Amino acid sequence: MTIERTLSIIKPHAVAKKIIGKIFYRLECAKLAIIGCKMLQLTPSQAKEFYVEHQEKIFFQNLIQCMTLGPSMISVLEGENAIQSYRQLMGATNPIHALSGTIRADYADSLTENAIHGSDSSTSATREINFFFSCHDLFSKSCQL
Ligand code: CMP
Repeated sequence: MTIERTLSIIKPHAVAKKIIGKIFYRLECAKLAIIGCKMLQLTPSQAKEFYVEHQEKIFFQNLIQCMTLGPSMISVLEGENAIQSYRQLMGATNPIHALSGTIRADYADSLTENAIHGSDSSTSATREINFFFSCHDLFSKSCQL
């Protein structure tokens, strides 16, 4: 059993659709504990730094614009194989390919406005969690009542 942490972002268009509660419910049902959470509106420079690996892609400007339109709900999830387990729950990046019943199949509007983001590896998870949270912001599942 590997207990992992991963970063989740509910993107601005999904926050605007008022589906934070529905998404959090799915995470908790899947035994992904929310151990840290904050709502914030990314600045263009924060979004560019966060998505730096995509800076040469043709969709980069569109992605930055979508991610800075309004507040995002950013959280750290902890659980068994959390990185893969959350990615399965999210569904494919392109909602056209997302399996039925996944979050993106149900709530994505397009490839860029695909409702949520999740770390794709343990290296990314560490970088992405540290991008938004300090260890004092996180409350491990084992410490929760
Ligand atoms: P996300 O999981 O946030 O990671 C990078 C984002 O880039 C991705 O979800 C999509 O919102 C966005 N994106 C837009 N076009 C593409 C594309 N062609 N391939 C991959 N990601 C894309």
